Amino acid sequence: MSEATEEITSGFPEAGPPRFDTIAAVKDGLAGVNYLADEGISSVVFLADRLAKPVLVEGPAGTGKTELAKSVARLTGSRLIRLQCYEGLDESKALYEWNYKKQLLRIQADAGQGWQKLEEDIFSEDFLLARPLLEAIRSPEPVVLLIDEIDRVELETEALLLEILSEYQVSIPELGTVRAQGIPMVFLTSNNTRELSEALKRRCLYLHIDYPDLERERAIIETRVPGISTALADQVARIVRSIRSLELKKAPSVSETLDWARTLVVLGVETIDAAQATETLHILLKYRADIEKATRELSAPNPAR
Ligand SMILES: Nc1ncnc2c1ncn2[C@@H]1O[C@H](COP(=O)(O)OP(=O)(O)OP(=O)(O)O)[C@@H](O)[C@H]1O
Ligand SMILES: [Mg+2]
Repeated sequence: MSEATEEITSGFPEAGPPRFDTIAAVKDGLAGVNYLADEGISSVVFLADRLAKPVLVEGPAGTGKTELAKSVARLTGSRLIRLQCYEGLDESKALYEWNYKKQLLRIQADAGQGWQKLEEDIFSEDFLLARPLLEAIRSPEPVVLLIDEIDRVELETEALLLEILSEYQVSIPELGTVRAQGIPMVFLTSNNTRELSEALKRRCLYLHIDYPDLERERAIIETRVPGISTALADQVARIVRSIRSLELKKAPSVSETLDWARTLVVLGVETIDAAQATETLHILLKYRADIEKATRELSAPNPAR
């Protein structure tokens, strides 16, 4: 057995020292890495650390679910390990697989030391391809594990993830059991394309991230769009907010708000008038019907803007 693996005797890895002192420290810390969280987000991150539980983050597209995990990694000086989920993702891509090509070459190059030696050799660390989950478990440095868009995998894969998240250990028949040294922070994101299993939900803290309120979106724009004036950021946030209140096929996300704000800055716009807004609406909205609806709304006089 190689050094990186060890036979385990008992249970769960120990929770390390707390990463955050208070909920406010999470919020301020995240702001320091340009992620503006509200009370809800900060308190779930705080609790996830204290209770050593994964966080299941749901909410509309482009509201900062993925970015939250990245920002927590940055804030805590942890390595971010991301498992991007997709339909058909299986154990060999999530956990580990053997490097068959390399094993084959080794077998072909065998100088006749006998099968037993050969077998030991080709099922050793050198021939193992660690995928994100195994990487996260055996990482000697602190890790934030991001399991992104978990709703895209099949139920069996979800069950596998669940098993790992409840034990933080991986058993490799040929090598032994690899056990996490500490409990990583884990974020699972979902776009809600299907219901996740009750078992998974039970295991996680739940966080719903919705569109930010006006004030927070303005602040996000100011943090993420260099060179924008407070007045323009405010106007962008207000217009996006009023557009979101329309009945649209696809409401603009925070990332689209940011793209729009960047566009306006590039175009040298200082205050948005109806004509400019209409000309650039395709950055914010991706359906023709939505653009037409928003154009009508924007050309109507509105004291709120
Ligand atoms: N609270 C926030 N603070 C700072 N930036 C934010 C915040 N929320 C969103 N953003 C910005 O919006 C962008 C999109 O966020 P992200 O990719 O995390 O969305 P998502 O919720 O994962 O979307 P999807 O469901 O499409 O994967 C980020 O790159 C970031 O620039
Ligand atoms: Mg995402």
